[in-house]
Amino acid sequence: MQGLIKLTLCVVLFISQICFCSASDRGTFFWATDMHVDIWGDSGNPEDMICAWTPSSQLLSAVAAMKEQNADPDFILVSGDIVHFPPRNSSDLSKQNILDTISSFTAWMVAEFPSTKLVPALGNHDHHPSNNWPVDVDDSAWLYNHLADIWSVWLEPDALETLGRTGWFSTDVAEGLRVITLNTNFFTVYNTYLPWNTTIADEQFTWFEGELERALSDNVKVYINGHHPAVGVHIEGGVEVGGLWPLYQQKFTMLYQTYADNIVASFWGHDHVDEARVVRGCSYTGPNPDVDSSGVNSCGGDAVGIAFVGQALTNCQVPAFREWSFDKSSFELVDYDQFWFQEDEEGVMTWPLQYRWSEAYTEMDDMKPESWRGEIERMQTNATAFDAFIERRGLIECESGSKCQQFTLCNYLFGSGHAEFLSCLWDSF
Ligand SMILES: *[C@@H]1O[C@H](CO)[C@@H](O)[C@H](O)[C@H]1NC(C)=O
Ligand SMILES: *[C@@H]1O[C@H](CO)[C@@H](O)[C@H](O)[C@H]1NC(C)=O
Ligand SMILES: *[C@@H]1O[C@H](CO)[C@@H](O)[C@H](O)[C@H]1NC(C)=O
Repeated sequence: MQGLIKLTLCVVLFISQICFCSASDRGTFFWATDMHVDIWGDSGNPEDMICAWTPSSQLLSAVAAMKEQNADPDFILVSGDIVHFPPRNSSDLSKQNILDTISSFTAWMVAEFPSTKLVPALGNHDHHPSNNWPVDVDDSAWLYNHLADIWSVWLEPDALETLGRTGWFSTDVAEGLRVITLNTNFFTVYNTYLPWNTTIADEQFTWFEGELERALSDNVKVYINGHHPAVGVHIEGGVEVGGLWPLYQQKFTMLYQTYADNIVASFWGHDHVDEARVVRGCSYTGPNPDVDSSGVNSCGGDAVGIAFVGQALTNCQVPAFREWSFDKSSFELVDYDQFWFQEDEEGVMTWPLQYRWSEAYTEMDDMKPESWRGEIERMQTNATAFDAFIERRGLIECESGSKCQQFTLCNYLFGSGHAEFLSCLWDSF
């Protein structure tokens, strides 16, 4: 009997030890993207609850729900498009409106999470006019200077220096973890200034490479944050080419591969869907791959990286945000909970759990790039897994066995290489 008690005690102690260790070894962060805040919107008016318009009260209910879930996350990641679109009228979305919207959003976050660092990327709608971001950064000084001012509550002088000039910055979010935030408006395909002048885009790439090198020598792991997904295209009843110029997609892939051991994951917005896209390694014709030279043979190799695209926190489909947990020593992602928007007849807004990664992706052991590749390849033949994924993704009807399925999965498996993507499509049609 005594032996049994001892044994039980031992087991209980052992289990509590494990639980204790794993709990304290976990960090958490919230991830929200494409908030599209409309400070004049009224959540009681259905005409205001439309795609890319999020009334303040709806956004505030999301922030309150985050806080209720976890008042002390390690940091909060935001992947761009704070500002709404289209304009409400001809005087909306002026420079002043944009500054006011971003200031309001910032003030709400500071009020609810006074001691949590927020790491926001800039989206195409965070500028006036939208989309075509000037390649001469002095033309956007009205914006960058303001951001460096209002985001100085979280960011260090080095980060404020680049943010205040160009919109990109890097910042440490935990002991041993750094987020590099890109201003992808300087890489995106519809920025028509770029074909004529790539000075600023090239400057950002040089900076990005320098930051990856610096993280390596500082022995800190990296999460990448940005608005336009650096790999793949957006699919919504057709293809919207809203990502990067293929040239920059290729350069991004090569750089990611070079620093793959030190980059844990990348996080993006813009497409308003819940997706994971694999970054594949390139092979080179020469023996010494050098990101500054050509000699790329093919970029369809091993999975070296992962690009998470986030469901939008606006009314394009069901708005959602995510709470991630990560391992505090390896900084690998461990799990996530996605919360989505519900409103009852009385207009009461709540954010219940939509799904938990570990319960939805039961066949995956972890969130490393090769595991995602395996999971996406599994969706090529397992209709149940594919259909469940498409339901979480939302926005399109995409039946298993259809061309849409092949197209979608080619995009996730080979979206980091232009030629490899086309060849995947060719093989499947
Ligand atoms: C535009 O809309 C805003 C917000 O509803 C309103 O305050 C403003 O008066 C409107 N301006 C015009 C010119 O209609
Ligand atoms: C290209 O843009 C940079 C600013 O990013 C500017 O200094 C340079 O003069 C521009 N080059 C040309 C050829 O217009
Ligand atoms: C297909 O995927 C589902 C969901 O992930 C899983 O439960 C099922 O066992 C898989 N079926 C086969 C035949 O592998």
